[in-house]
Amino acid sequence: MSNSPDKFVFPDTNMLSSNAKMYCNFKLKNQNSFRQMVALDVYEAAVKRRTIRKFLQKPIPIETLMKLLNAARLAPSAGNLQPCEYVLVTDKALLDSVFSTLKWARYIAPEGTPKEGERPVAYVVVMVNTRKAREGGEIDCAAAIENMILTAWEEGIGSCWIASIDKERLREILSIPDYCKICFVVALGYRAEEPIVEDMEGDDVKYWKDEKGVLHVPKRKLSDIVFTNRYGNKITEH
Ligand SMILES: Cc1cc2nc3c(=O)[nH]c(=O)nc-3n(C[C@H](O)[C@H](O)[C@H](O)COP(=O)(O)O)c2cc1C
Repeated sequence: MSNSPDKFVFPDTNMLSSNAKMYCNFKLKNQNSFRQMVALDVYEAAVKRRTIRKFLQKPIPIETLMKLLNAARLAPSAGNLQPCEYVLVTDKALLDSVFSTLKWARYIAPEGTPKEGERPVAYVVVMVNTRKAREGGEIDCAAAIENMILTAWEEGIGSCWIASIDKERLREILSIPDYCKICFVVALGYRAEEPIVEDMEGDDVKYWKDEKGVLHVPKRKLSDIVFTNRYGNKITEH
């Protein structure tokens, strides 16, 4: 099977496992063009995705949430142990309780905390089941989360990856057993803000809001972080 766009042949779905078949059939039904299936969309999502902390109060269809979780499920995993497990929270009362365990945007607190009417409409609590991996697993969570948030972006859904969590309270609220290590929470919702990415000046990593309330996110320049062949050998940006 060739990878070139004009020669692409969809795999014979009879040769695939039932899960993969389901996915391929989903894609076949939903593809408008070949472009949707290739890495170009992944790159676009990777560069355009920004952390979102203001959300429309519109529910995310369960099929879409499952699509995000499926993208997480299929992420790379060390030793293929796949120790990550997830609690999806959409219940209104629980959304409020989970919200109360989270800390938002520390550089601009409390300004970056979602206000009433702008809060996430779903959360995914990402855990490591220590019966599946006794140590580590956080890196697997990170890979799964990146899959999830890029897929979300493609669907018009914004996300905030959160590590500042009152884990003990969250464990109680969601009845998470001791053998599951709570690692991160991903807050989700359709986007109600458009942060701007900009080149970092000096070493100032702090994101900030302008007078219109727009979030600016500084990123280090490619020419400051990429070297060719030897460390220190800078690239020229094109
Ligand atoms: C491991 C990790 C932990 C994070 N924890 C929090 C958090 O606790 N609260 C929050 O508001 N944002 C959190 N973020 C989001 C970062 O603030 C955000 O990614 C960063 O400012 C860069 O913005 P960008 O995602 O738009 O590129 C976290 C991101 C990562 C990767």
